[in-house]
Amino acid sequence: MATGDKKSPGSGKKESPLKGKKVLITAGPTREHLDPVRFISNPSSGKMGYALARACLSRGARVTLISGPVALTPPPGLRTVRVESALQMFKAARAAFSGCDVFIASAAVSDYRPARASKSKIKKDSPGGRFLRLTLNPDILQKLSRAKGGRLLVGFAAETGSVLENARGKLRNKKLDLMVANRVGRKGTGFGSDFNQVTLLWPSGKAETLKRMAKERVAGRVADEIEKLLK
Ligand code: PMT
Repeated sequence: MATGDKKSPGSGKKESPLKGKKVLITAGPTREHLDPVRFISNPSSGKMGYALARACLSRGARVTLISGPVALTPPPGLRTVRVESALQMFKAARAAFSGCDVFIASAAVSDYRPARASKSKIKKDSPGGRFLRLTLNPDILQKLSRAKGGRLLVGFAAETGSVLENARGKLRNKKLDLMVANRVGRKGTGFGSDFNQVTLLWPSGKAETLKRMAKERVAGRVADEIEKLLK
């Protein structure tokens, strides 16, 4: 047995380095309202983030899941915070970040929100009704990474082109320990699918491309890598 490996008493099984660790996960999309009945969003289903939550839970982690609006039921045994907009997700993530050991940002956060949200439904013929002024949302992962300390940070990159190059840029800018890069915009992988095809990237420059597999298995692989980083 390698130094540092622990066995749970009586089980003969090695104890996971994730056991007892506080893991914060963001999942799903955000919705940025223009008015009470319209919003800007994306097709994230939350499947990837919820699979990560299950993978960490099954290794004994204490999981807080901050979830955008999705049609999934969180697994029992974790704390779920439901949010709608990027600003709400930022507030919830900031509150939980200081107490966490590992932060996994798998949410598809909207980069922009309408500069002004109307309290009532915008009418078809209202002056300026066809024009949308947008403002930037905070980059949750980047902002929280400034107070990284000893925490382990894992990000996802959703890219349609120059996938690895763009993902490496985000890995550096957001001070990540592991980046999971996925190509999006194709059927059968990424947004909404039960499957994903990802490349794992490390700050050392190491990269490992995984074959297309169920998100449950991708989550297991990511959790395996987190365990190695925690050792
Ligand atoms: O939800 P599913 O249907 O299962 O789909 C899974 C997924 C495709 C959404 C997931 O695998 C994925 O790629 N998630 C990240 C999507 C994304 O927003 O990527 P990005 O390249 O725009 O952002 C890079 C990183 O910064 C991400 O970790 C993201 O959570 C974070 N970010 C981005 C913008 C922002 N304002 N705040 C953030 O924290």
